[in-house]
Amino acid sequence: MCDRCKNTFYITTPIYYPSDKLHIGHTYCTVAADTMARYKRMRGYDVMFLTGTDEHGQKIETKAKEAGVTPQQFVDNIVTGQGGVLDLWKLMNISNDRFIRTTDPYHVAAVQKIFKKMYENGDIYKGSYKGKYCTPCESFWTESQLKDGKCPDCGREVTDAEEEAYFFRLSKYAKPVRDLLTNTDFLEPKSRVNEMVNNFIDPGLEDLCVSRTSFTWGVPVDFDPGHVVYVWVDALFNYTTALGFMNDTYHEYDKFWPADVHFVGKEIVRFHSIIWPAMLMSMGMPLPKKVYGHGWLLLDGGKMSKSKGNVVDPYLLAERYGVDALRFFLMRTFPFGSDGNFSNELLISCINTDLANDLGNLVSRTVAMVQKYFGGTLPAAQEADEALDQPLVELASGLREKYEAQMEAYQFQNALAEVFKVISRANKYIDENAPWVLAKDEAKKPRLARVLYNLLETVRICGALLEPVMPDTTAKIMARLGEPAHGWDTLAAFGALPADVTVAGGEALFPRIDMAKELEALEELHQKALAAAAGPKEEPLPEPLPPVDFDTFCKVEMTVVKVLSCEKVKKSDKLLKFQLDDGTGTPRQILSGIAKYYQPEELLGKTLVAVTNLPPRKMMGQESCGMILSAERGETLKLVMLDDSVPAGARLV
Ligand code: MSP
Repeated sequence: MCDRCKNTFYITTPIYYPSDKLHIGHTYCTVAADTMARYKRMRGYDVMFLTGTDEHGQKIETKAKEAGVTPQQFVDNIVTGQGGVLDLWKLMNISNDRFIRTTDPYHVAAVQKIFKKMYENGDIYKGSYKGKYCTPCESFWTESQLKDGKCPDCGREVTDAEEEAYFFRLSKYAKPVRDLLTNTDFLEPKSRVNEMVNNFIDPGLEDLCVSRTSFTWGVPVDFDPGHVVYVWVDALFNYTTALGFMNDTYHEYDKFWPADVHFVGKEIVRFHSIIWPAMLMSMGMPLPKKVYGHGWLLLDGGKMSKSKGNVVDPYLLAERYGVDALRFFLMRTFPFGSDGNFSNELLISCINTDLANDLGNLVSRTVAMVQKYFGGTLPAAQEADEALDQPLVELASGLREKYEAQMEAYQFQNALAEVFKVISRANKYIDENAPWVLAKDEAKKPRLARVLYNLLETVRICGALLEPVMPDTTAKIMARLGEPAHGWDTLAAFGALPADVTVAGGEALFPRIDMAKELEALEELHQKALAAAAGPKEEPLPEPLPPVDFDTFCKVEMTVVKVLSCEKVKKSDKLLKFQLDDGTGTPRQILSGIAKYYQPEELLGKTLVAVTNLPPRKMMGQESCGMILSAERGETLKLVMLDDSVPAGARLV
């Protein structure tokens, strides 16, 4: 079957380095790819959406060593552990069809075969790699990696050194790659083409060093022990091994390769638009149809990075605002090809304006009016008014075409802008037709029914086209409209909704957020996260107390007590009320200000120490007969606990 008749669509994201937890910047590309995959599925394509993790390389090896675990354990924790990559994609409702890990044995074996094939065809050859060597770290560095001329890891002197390495003849492919970039639409947006040609190709492409001997965490070159394959060669071929290229684990290479599009961030466009096609040419494999280099989400104008402490946590945002709102914000706010500045204000105002005010209000007002004026079901007898209806009907009927044009160009922001133009128009249509006035006159009921029908039908079309970005919201909207058909074919014309539609009510789709309060809450969370990342603060020691004589000390009665019951004191954030067995046979009641540090249930049965000869005093109207001992410094407070074998009533001496 020729390519054009194939109704398949293969889309990939970069595979992520599991060296740290992922942040909102990583989420951006994956949500975009998911949106595209869902859109193509909606159009009836047989979609393969691939994402995964790029798990080899020196950085991972070093980090694992620092953490005292094996590299495999290290990556397993970040990929499959709690709150890891797989959890994040599940949370973000990512509908990938496949997930590849470059440590998957089928991939490793395939990369070995690929490397060997390029070696055998003469495009990979053995040479020597000149660089700077740090003897204590056993690491090779290039001139540009050095920090003030010294080892970037340990800061010590480096020496000139040479090591045996394999090279890929990238220089041989300079001309065909240049032609590919300049004569076709292979790389988009176009601005990235100039960058590649002017900065990398025209100054002269050098052969690429594609093996390393200074570390071991990589795919071994099977015909030359001691060498591991350069991580980018290993990583780039994931796009083909995940389909079954050079392995028997999967069998979809012929069906899906070449990829329709690789989504990649701008800093890795060079690898995808120069090195990747050159290697594919060397292998005699078809080239992907497109590489799309998207921009970065910036924070305060700079790149997010863990080391700068300015990463934005997608878990936190999804928990506060919902996954759909977060996905929508990412796709609606930033043009895909350019950088965009993330801010909490932008996020909240996007939710308030588009989702709560425009979309949310349209849905709830319309449904509420159908319920109020017609008991939830529209009558089929309706009266159109050409002049009043046409602008909305035309706009909604033409939406799919405009939306499609923008989606096909990967302009998610514009596609959503088209949907929201129609939503705004529908809100205006409500004001123009004033249904509450029509409702007062029985003779105008058919007209009222038509107005509400037009609104519901607009909601159906817009709601369906929002599905690739907000799948859960679309499901909720369709439930309110009585689950009408809303497949792609039903969206190019007005009228697929039955005239006598029955609606269902529900809660506000997107509650409005109080901007000032929310920003304050986010700032507080941010400060807490920073404090947690910085580790516990060293509190200064308290001032030493003046000495006491031994007799005075002996006057303090410290008794071992067992917790019989413990509960929070009503209306107090601080106090817990204890009933304690102090060995006398009569329970002793003590109130203690430790509610911030302990849950009552966790203290039941514990063996504690109390001062039992203090005069009773009242706290929040309740008597406290003594004081429970605890150790306190800075933010830390721990009760003094003894092992359970010490009997109640024992004295501390
Ligand atoms: N492992 C390589 C990709 C190999 S693909 C064969 C890699 N991994 S990465 O985890 O460092 O980055 C993955 C993707 O996340 C890149 O496309 C990168 O541009 C993207 N992003 C990381 N931070 C980002 C933002 N702040 N904003 C948008 N995307 C960003 O590179």
